[in-house]
Amino acid sequence: MALSIRVAIFLIITCFVVLQQNGDAQKHKKSEGLLMNCRFDRIYQLGDSISDTGNCLRESLCGTHSSCRRYPYGINFFHKVTGRCSDGMLMIDFIARESGLPFLNPFKDENADCSHGANFAVAGATALSVESLAEKNISMSFTNSSLSVQLHWLSSHFKSIDSPDEKLNNSLFLVGEIGGNEFNYGLGQGKSIKEVRKMVPEVVQTIIHGVKRVIGLGATRIIIPGNFPIGCITSMLTKFQTNKTTAYDEYHCLKDLNSLARFFNHHLQQAIVQMKKKYPNVILIYGDYYNAYLWLLQNAVSLGFDKNSSQKACCGIGGNYNYNSSRTCGAAGVPVCVDPSTHISWDGIHMTQEAYKWMARWLINDMLPQLNCQV
Ligand SMILES: *[C@@H]1O[C@H](CO)[C@@H](O)[C@H](O)[C@H]1NC(C)=O
Ligand SMILES: *[C@@H]1O[C@H](CO)[C@@H](O)[C@H](O)[C@H]1NC(C)=O
Ligand SMILES: *[C@@H]1O[C@H](CO)[C@@H](O)[C@H](O)[C@H]1NC(C)=O
Ligand SMILES: *[C@@H]1O[C@H](CO)[C@@H](O)[C@H](O)[C@H]1NC(C)=O
Ligand SMILES: *[C@@H]1O[C@H](CO)[C@@H](O)[C@H](O)[C@H]1NC(C)=O
Ligand SMILES: *[C@@H]1O[C@H](CO)[C@@H](O)[C@H](O)[C@H]1NC(C)=O
Repeated sequence: MALSIRVAIFLIITCFVVLQQNGDAQKHKKSEGLLMNCRFDRIYQLGDSISDTGNCLRESLCGTHSSCRRYPYGINFFHKVTGRCSDGMLMIDFIARESGLPFLNPFKDENADCSHGANFAVAGATALSVESLAEKNISMSFTNSSLSVQLHWLSSHFKSIDSPDEKLNNSLFLVGEIGGNEFNYGLGQGKSIKEVRKMVPEVVQTIIHGVKRVIGLGATRIIIPGNFPIGCITSMLTKFQTNKTTAYDEYHCLKDLNSLARFFNHHLQQAIVQMKKKYPNVILIYGDYYNAYLWLLQNAVSLGFDKNSSQKACCGIGGNYNYNSSRTCGAAGVPVCVDPSTHISWDGIHMTQEAYKWMARWLINDMLPQLNCQV
């Protein structure tokens, strides 16, 4: 997802149903601790602001442009700015915790302990290189740390530690979410959905190429997340709002944008199926962010989110969605909602800790059977 910066876009149901939904929430509560059975000893993350735990903050340009560098980011749980683009924990933090591991330190923190893995994700990063984006007239001015750069860091990190190869069998790798910013920047810089759609095969190939590099480094268990239903994201709902009711689906999400995300996810899933044939000994898992998010939206009320504000930013100001791309969370005078845990959207682009918690639980339940962990 895009890092919000000035230059870029700023970007009673029947009793039965209630019971059923509560049952669903109960089921997802049970994921707690289940990843322990996997006995991961390290987790490595590549990606963008969905999973950055402090790398962008430590890059000079990225750090000065990132809106996530200011209070009230980190207001919950950490009680300080960490570089995470949320009020508190991210999905990767929940995944680490459920695995019985400490939070992943940002690779750019030179004093950090990387004995349980490391985080290479950088807020604002793209799968495609900055040069490749420039060829498409898409500018990206505050970080060059695209997927290939992060892979370079990962590779040099492995060279710097002693014989990691045998140890990587108990490591979990997450390659993504990455590739969503290409669409955010393209759409934000005036490209049509049709034009952006043309980038999909190249973006998917770049991610797959990255996964192959990770396999080359010895990874045996890899999660490759897809994109969110971007037509449900507050910043997009704001930018593309229309009086045309047919533009929206039953969850009040923009159909065309969700269709773009599905198109990308479909390509990515097909590429993963092909890769599984080529690497039968590697566990490759598609991380279904799209359906996890829709589940969250469908069950928002029974999960404790406020019905009226499930699509409004908690931290933001103005408009139908409490979001204004030129006055985003962290800027002077932009208020924070009383209880972030009642909102899905934290700043209009990124989610709240509470929403990430439920996303992580849904994903863990979905992925666990595929991880082949001993019970
Ligand atoms: C990029 O912009 C330049 C100058 O406006 C134009 O000549 C070129 O065709 C554009 N390229 C693409 C891929 O849109
Ligand atoms: C990205 O790389 C180019 C070329 O090396 C450099 O001029 C530019 O300053 C870099 N940008 C950032 C944000 O590091
Ligand atoms: C929607 O309709 C209202 C009232 O007719 C109008 O004020 C507003 O500008 C319209 N919004 C868009 C996005 O077209
Ligand atoms: C590592 O895991 C792979 C895939 O699960 C398996 O084929 C291989 O034998 C394991 N290697 C070691 C050294 O345990
Ligand atoms: C939710 O919205 C409805 C209609 O817009 C309004 O009547 C109600 O008071 C709102 N509830 C809360 C908690 O804001
Ligand atoms: C967004 O904020 C800018 C700057 O404060 C303001 O000029 C503009 O009217 C706002 N837009 C909306 C839709 O509230």
